[in-house]
Amino acid sequence: MSLLRTVNPESPADPVGLTEPSAEPRPFASRWWRDAVIYQVYVRSFADSNGDGIGDLPGIRARLPHLARLGVDAVWLTPFYASPQADGGYDVADYRAVDPLFGTLDDAVQLIDSAHGLGLRVIVDVVPNHTSDQHEWFRAALAGGPERDLYHFRQGRGTDGELPPNDWESVFGGPAWTRVADGSWYLHLFAPQQPDLNWENPAVHAEFDSILRFWLDRGVDGFRVDVAHGMVKAAGMPDIGAREQAKMIGSQVLPFFDQDGVHAIHRGWRRLLDSYEGERIGVAEAWAPSPERLALYVRPDELHQAFNFQFLTCPWDATAMRAVVDASLAATGSVGAPTTWVLSNHDVVRHLTRYGADDYAKGLRRARAAALLMLALPGSTYLYQGEELGLPEVRDLPDEARQDPSFFRTDGQDGLRDGCRVPIPWEGDRAPYGFGSGGTGEDTGTGTDTGTSTGTGTDAGTGSGTGSWLPQPASWAGLSVAAQTGAEGSTLELYRTALARRKELPGLGDGGMEWRPSPAAGVLDFVRPGFRCLLNTGTEPVELPTPGRLLVTSADLAAEGGTLTLPADTCTWWAIP
Ligand code: NOJ
Ligand code: CA
Repeated sequence: MSLLRTVNPESPADPVGLTEPSAEPRPFASRWWRDAVIYQVYVRSFADSNGDGIGDLPGIRARLPHLARLGVDAVWLTPFYASPQADGGYDVADYRAVDPLFGTLDDAVQLIDSAHGLGLRVIVDVVPNHTSDQHEWFRAALAGGPERDLYHFRQGRGTDGELPPNDWESVFGGPAWTRVADGSWYLHLFAPQQPDLNWENPAVHAEFDSILRFWLDRGVDGFRVDVAHGMVKAAGMPDIGAREQAKMIGSQVLPFFDQDGVHAIHRGWRRLLDSYEGERIGVAEAWAPSPERLALYVRPDELHQAFNFQFLTCPWDATAMRAVVDASLAATGSVGAPTTWVLSNHDVVRHLTRYGADDYAKGLRRARAAALLMLALPGSTYLYQGEELGLPEVRDLPDEARQDPSFFRTDGQDGLRDGCRVPIPWEGDRAPYGFGSGGTGEDTGTGTDTGTSTGTGTDAGTGSGTGSWLPQPASWAGLSVAAQTGAEGSTLELYRTALARRKELPGLGDGGMEWRPSPAAGVLDFVRPGFRCLLNTGTEPVELPTPGRLLVTSADLAAEGGTLTLPADTCTWWAIP
């Protein structure tokens, strides 16, 4: 019997990627977005260059070699614009300025240029559904100026206008309306600090065209469009007549989401994107009630991609997964668009923890297998920072460290979004694990601690002058980039190997796939040109004929004679004739 395992690449001289990015540009493939692997950087939590505990643009720039070495094609940066940070920067006060927390406009331009030099495209967030309440438009609106028409102000109901204009609820809990000094109410589908823009007003269109051009002129390769399903509200803003509306998002059309009118906006943006050289793209963050409705956002004259949240929310169940894959491919295929696959982002519990609950080992096995499944499917893939390290959700953050507005608006009932935003461990034995020395390039040693963090998890520092804005668990030392680099069987090396194979194999990426009859309950089996993927989601090992030459496996395999034993919670890639 032999134990099969994929070969790890050689150990690099620069394990955590602090080498200065080269300025040498690499050629980009055309239609690159159809099968691109795009890595989401949550700016506040990736790498901190100045030791204030908050990730920033120079920190990201210094760590770009890690992403190039990982083998991704593009980076998506979450909002780094001037913002009071009421919702992690999704409350933008000035769309053309970089928040001093994260750096300067020059830092942003240098980051884009350095990424391009490493062959990485850059996608930035645009937040068109709402501004910050500190945006100059909203301040002028509150002062009674004509800017009021750029937002949704209404009179309230009740004898004295003391009740909100309708029964809509904020996604973060509580009413979607806030009353202002003159007695009127304004709409905010998210926090009160995020007033919704009125896209019936042509000035809003003109302003966002100008914002897109501002960043396209600085070289960005595309935009992740925040709440791309929300800009248009149903005429008359009718009541919904039901509570807990946030739970209906993604399963039914609501009068504030997925209205047909949003598509005209996306068509206009596509024309604008197409007027630039180099295939600049738009990706919709759209929660639509079905794959068919989601596909409308990626028709040939609209955005290029839409996140596939049906895949993200699918349970660890072979039948359900296969159904989602089929429905996703059919829906996007019907409009000629590629499907995207995503398992985690900054708004959801990390998939390792979703799949394993409190059992880290089980969650890790499944997360590794799910990553191989996702990377074998036709289309484009989004990775969320830290999944390549096998990071779990941090569930025991102290209340005083939390920042998610939904935590405060739901009396702590919700607010799960901080646990997936804990800063990345790069190296060393103690928090902040090199997070706070990432931009200097001066400290590649171990055990760096820029402040008062103790490295014992929830009692680590929580703010300015401490190690990281959210405390990192003591158990993360073994999960750091440095600890996993070159380590046989590590999750980081699994991702590196899979991404390298994906690039080499012409049958992966864009193109077709075909299911084979499942060899056992809980097993998914499909082929692509020269390639076969087998995933066992069941609880028992499955024996089957060895399919070909092993390319990548998410767990050790036993093979004897011509028989392969595929363990539970394992995904494998094979080269086939
Ligand atoms: C989606 C973003 O991903 C999330 O973080 C944000 O809170 C909302 N949109 C509102 O902008
Ligand atoms: Ca910083």
